[in-house]
Amino acid sequence: MKKLVVLSGAGISAESGLKTFRDANGLWEGHDVTQVASPIGWHQDPALVLDFYNQRRKQALQAKPNAAHEKLAQLETEFDVQIITQNVDHLHEEAGSSNVLHLHGKLFEARSTMDDRLIYPLDGWALNLGDTCELGSQLRPNIVWFGEAVPAMEKAIELTAQADLFLVIGTSLQVYPAAGLLEYTSPTCPIFLIDPKEVNYESNRNISVIQEKATKGMDEFMERIRS
Ligand code: OAD
Repeated sequence: MKKLVVLSGAGISAESGLKTFRDANGLWEGHDVTQVASPIGWHQDPALVLDFYNQRRKQALQAKPNAAHEKLAQLETEFDVQIITQNVDHLHEEAGSSNVLHLHGKLFEARSTMDDRLIYPLDGWALNLGDTCELGSQLRPNIVWFGEAVPAMEKAIELTAQADLFLVIGTSLQVYPAAGLLEYTSPTCPIFLIDPKEVNYESNRNISVIQEKATKGMDEFMERIRS
């Protein structure tokens, strides 16, 4: 089976009702990134950070996978599909995708502030001040914040280099190192990009752009790769 590697971003979950970050009315328009998604913000006001992610969890609990997530899951009958997602939601998994690598962490996990290896699943939306790990330290969201290392990047590069086909969907490609993954595809690997807006990417690779929303774009992508 040929290997299809997918780099997804917030735009794939937009039709499930979850806000993107940089679109008009996106999350970074209403929130200061440094306050809610950085180690400095956490140090200054952990309650504000916890509340921001509690709101994200409440919204994610109401969201269902859309046809784009579902089509990617269905493609597993034809391809060895590996999803590398910048999204912290669980919609790829809920749609049935088997191989999902979360570059920026997971919304429904908490992590010890004393030992990074201590990770706990969260069933509901709430993570509060006073919720502690087994060592007694405050729990934080298991999210990669700005200024933090991306531990899954090495694996993501390895997978990208193995791709026979590479699909970028629903990401503005503004955040590194994720946006740099394109450069690790083999020179012969066709690259497709689905996004309703024009995406400014820094790459001299030849990219086939499908300028559509994720659900419609997936239909066109599937037609093109089958023909
Ligand atoms: P952005 O908000 O930067 O980009 C979302 C992209 O989705 C844009 O290019 C939109 O045009 C596109 N889009 C909007 N609606 C769409 C739809 N219905 N179908 C397909 N595409 C659509 O989000 P990301 O690129 O995912 O990191 O952002 C990358 C990272 O920046 C995030 O993981 C997050 C953020 O700060 C952390 O929080 C660590």
